[in-house]
Amino acid sequence: MKNIKTQVGIIGAGPAGLTLALMLQKEGISSIIIENRSREYVENRIRAGLLEHNTVEVFDKLGVSERLHREGLVHHGCYIAYNGVTQRIDFQKHTQREVTIYGQQEVVKDLIKVCFDRKIEIVFEADATEINDFMTEKPSISFTHSGENNTLNCDFVAGTDGFHGIGRKTLPKESYNEFKIEYPFSWLGILAYSKPSYDELIYAFHHEGFALASMRSEKVCRLYLQVPNDEKIENWSDEKVWAELENRLGIALNKGEIFEKSITPMRSFMIDNMQAGRLFLAGDAAHIVPPTGAKGLNLAVADVRNLAKGITDFYKNNNEELLDNYSKKCVARVWRVQDFSNFMTYLCHKQAESGSFEQLLQKSKFDYLRISEAYQKTIAENYVGLPFEAFE
Ligand code: FAD
Ligand code: PHB
Repeated sequence: MKNIKTQVGIIGAGPAGLTLALMLQKEGISSIIIENRSREYVENRIRAGLLEHNTVEVFDKLGVSERLHREGLVHHGCYIAYNGVTQRIDFQKHTQREVTIYGQQEVVKDLIKVCFDRKIEIVFEADATEINDFMTEKPSISFTHSGENNTLNCDFVAGTDGFHGIGRKTLPKESYNEFKIEYPFSWLGILAYSKPSYDELIYAFHHEGFALASMRSEKVCRLYLQVPNDEKIENWSDEKVWAELENRLGIALNKGEIFEKSITPMRSFMIDNMQAGRLFLAGDAAHIVPPTGAKGLNLAVADVRNLAKGITDFYKNNNEELLDNYSKKCVARVWRVQDFSNFMTYLCHKQAESGSFEQLLQKSKFDYLRISEAYQKTIAENYVGLPFEAFE
């Protein structure tokens, strides 16, 4: 049994936990990260791929973006299509901002490397089992590692342990309301070694279901298809996936080897309080958005930016005001992002029969999108990410 001590105990080495540790280290505040998976596992977990302008700026300030700028793809717009009729959303014109395509697993690799370079301790294959005494000034995290029970004593606990972690489960039930939507569809996603035959992302409504064409590099495509929730991956041969993608996107694709294929359910989830005493939640631990708005990772970074500011003000100025308002500030942004992600999901997915009232309303939104610069601007400013200052 080991007893260790740090200022901030962080559970989870995802984008939220790693970014938080680096932000704190920059201010001279110590932290230790407890992560239940191996380094190899977290560095290869395939997830998001689109970074908001805000997120890139955070990584720039932390000095972790050298490879991101070298290998990431900067996009100044995206396409939204309705049964083959395409409208470009011009981010540059409407917001003077852009987004960067760079896989989450690459972000995680970069963050872990810099954490080690800067002597931030990450304990991999360590399972946090309990968060203790968080209503006092001396909380601790119990965790198991190499068959031993250990305790991490700290001043603050950051629950950056994702949707299934112990952070949210520990938060007193009476301290929050929970909101959720489980959508009646999932995404079948593939990664393939092939040159994208499109220059920017395409979000395509099709009467047989949604499709998204994204990418990871000039040699790797990331593509998605709307499928029913009970769909079996075995039903989707590589040939069938390519044929359906071409059908729904209405373009010819370069069909390279598919090296990843998986199905992810779509949900919106959030709680309206993210803190209790010395326990603070951030990222997927507190909220999930459907990926149609490409916001999950970006929202996690926005949360920890607020948390790092609050903890820094506590240590530097003995001021707890920012920490007291942490949840309030995060939740305002979470609602905005929930609305946008939900809007994009309903806009682009097939939900109702062709010719029904609901489906014709959906079509009317696309018709409006083609004639209204204002509608395009609304989508652009939410998609690239509203400035952090908008919620301060
Ligand atoms: P996570 O990345 O989940 O990190 C939490 C970490 O905590 C994990 O490493 C986990 O192993 C660790 N952990 C959990 N419990 C414990 C414990 N008890 N002890 C120690 N460690 C623990 N977003 C998009 O924008 N676009 C996408 O296409 C997209 N696709 C996704 C696909 C999938 C399958 C999933 C699950 C998410 C996807 N997301 C996507 C969302 C995005 O990846 C997340 O929003 C992002 O990972 C949030 O980061 P996080 O650090 O909050 O949580
Ligand atoms: C991705 O590249 O994985 C991606 C991009 C945009 C989205 C969702 C996923 O909206």
